[in-house]
Amino acid sequence: MASRKTIGILTSGGDAPGMNAAIRSVVRMAIDNGMKVLGFERGYSGLINADVVYMNLRSVSGIINKGGTILYTARCPEFCTDEGIKIAKANCERLGIDEMVVIGGDGSFRGAKALGEMGIPCVCIPGTIDNDIGCSEYSVGFDTAMNTAIEMIDRLRDTAESHERCSVVEVMGRSCGELALLTGIAVGATAIIVPEMPYDFQKNIVDRMRFTQKTGKKHFIIIVAEGIGEVNEIAKRIYDETSIETRMTVLGHVQRGGAPSLRDRVVASMMGARAVDIISRGDGNRVIAIKSGSIVDYDISQALSMKKAFDKDMYDTALKISI
Ligand code: ADP
Ligand code: F6P
Repeated sequence: MASRKTIGILTSGGDAPGMNAAIRSVVRMAIDNGMKVLGFERGYSGLINADVVYMNLRSVSGIINKGGTILYTARCPEFCTDEGIKIAKANCERLGIDEMVVIGGDGSFRGAKALGEMGIPCVCIPGTIDNDIGCSEYSVGFDTAMNTAIEMIDRLRDTAESHERCSVVEVMGRSCGELALLTGIAVGATAIIVPEMPYDFQKNIVDRMRFTQKTGKKHFIIIVAEGIGEVNEIAKRIYDETSIETRMTVLGHVQRGGAPSLRDRVVASMMGARAVDIISRGDGNRVIAIKSGSIVDYDISQALSMKKAFDKDMYDTALKISI
């Protein structure tokens, strides 16, 4: 039976390609279920400042192919305070919000949990290029970011190859090395340095470069996850130790933009639909996730207590084949 609920939706934390596809799906599925949808701009700041837009079927036209988020995003320290959450709750009540959909990373989910505890239930959709959300195998934006990274690094390879240089590349991911690992495999990096694995500069970088050099390799790609935090020093030390000309590139925010990949559009669309299903059945305070390739949902507290496992077998294989 059609519900008469009013739901709010926001995107929070770092933007990720596919967030728009998730917004589109939530808005259209909610309207299909007889709900009203209000979009809050700039993450939790929008809840505090009541920056609100009324969404209809056409508000989400022409966005499935667009990176970024039409609702804007922000990090909002004020929301981490009791005062900030109270203002947000009061605004939700004044606007008649029954439930919120929050698209973001685990920081944003902690905010959603806090709002839920104040009586505004939330359903969360994983959206971050870092793929660092403990409860989910996948977060919207990861595939696009990896594809952007490999396109950029393939370009760096052309020039590294021509000059017989070493290209040291930092990829994003906060404290999670998965973006670095998968990207490193896809570009055939000689070394992949991630925070989850201890690394020894001599053994994991220099010895590998020397070994491959002896087998005829003349250019090198070294991927360093942002969580390592010393890409400059690594590049300098490589040159000092090997005398191989070395250049360093921080890929940076280029990885956050661009048209979402098919995978991100589809996963975001299906997760958006699941969010509305959860709300329709009268449930709340859930996090949507991917488990064994399928969409599932967890209680928000349980979801936040889950830890992301690093795929050590994949890492070991990467080292064997990129030599
Ligand atoms: P992400 O969602 O990508 O992990 P952040 O960690 O930056 O990004 O968190 C995004 C926002 O979520 C923060 O700026 C803040 O507004 C909110 N948030 C994070 N942690 C909490 C918390 N413990 N309580 C309330 N809000 C939080
Ligand atoms: O969480 C996404 C992410 O791009 C991280 O990979 C990176 O550490 C961080 O956000 C950068 O944040 P900002 O956009 O505030 O520079």
